[in-house]
Amino acid sequence: MPRHIAIIMDGNGRWAKKRMNIRLFGHRAGAEAVRRAMDCCRRHGVQYLTLYAFSTENWSRPKDEVDGLMNLLRKFLRDNERELIEKECRFRVMGRKADLPEDLQAQIAQVEDATKGFEQQLIVCLSYGGRAEIVDAARRLADEARSGTLDPAAIDEAAFAARMYLPDVPDPDLIIRTSGELRLSNFLLWECAYSELFVTDTLWPDFSEKDFLEAVASFAKRKRRFGGLDASATKPQISDSKSQISKSSDTEGAT
Ligand code: FPP
Repeated sequence: MPRHIAIIMDGNGRWAKKRMNIRLFGHRAGAEAVRRAMDCCRRHGVQYLTLYAFSTENWSRPKDEVDGLMNLLRKFLRDNERELIEKECRFRVMGRKADLPEDLQAQIAQVEDATKGFEQQLIVCLSYGGRAEIVDAARRLADEARSGTLDPAAIDEAAFAARMYLPDVPDPDLIIRTSGELRLSNFLLWECAYSELFVTDTLWPDFSEKDFLEAVASFAKRKRRFGGLDASATKPQISDSKSQISKSSDTEGAT
């Protein structure tokens, strides 16, 4: 069973269109699928679930859709805070939180605080972009180097990894994308280096336990080598909790 599953929840718009309805109808159904995915992870012992809910690029969608998505997030937090606490699930947001409406930022901070001790984690990516995350890490490194608290010569992969948004979260073992597109769309670009990928044609609002189990069964068949030569290769570590390709095991072309 993967310890960390990350999902690109795609296909809400197409799901709504098939039903001759507006895109927001699809996003609402998508929020129900989020609940199902959370249940699957809890029941099957997946500790981390990361969901790509709103990208840095999604701000360019029509205002109605953006406002509707922000309202859905407000509703999701209102409806689920108690259950997250009861089911001991830590809620975290990953992304440029400062871009979000202030009331939503406050609501997020409140739920993050109320759930912060729990081991099981639901991570929602909001105003998130993989490139933005790497740029933000680079800016932090540059600031620290400029102020003299970091020796530029000490900048290595571990230094970058430590400045990602959630450095304590292990990289995803499995990335699932719904609705059939074969691309990463700027999702977890740093963290996905050794993730296994699974793409299903199922549109996100239809995502069910059957799809979840199919993805996990496919993952179970993969041989993960992390740049090594056989299945006995273990995942190299940057630090206690963050994995990386260590200099010695980073052989070009090996997968
Ligand atoms: C991509 O489908 C999906 C999104 C941009 C939004 C995802 C949001 C949710 C699932 C609901 C809210 C989330 C939470 C965590 C409560 P698309 O609109 O690009 O679909 P399309 O490719 O079919 O047009």
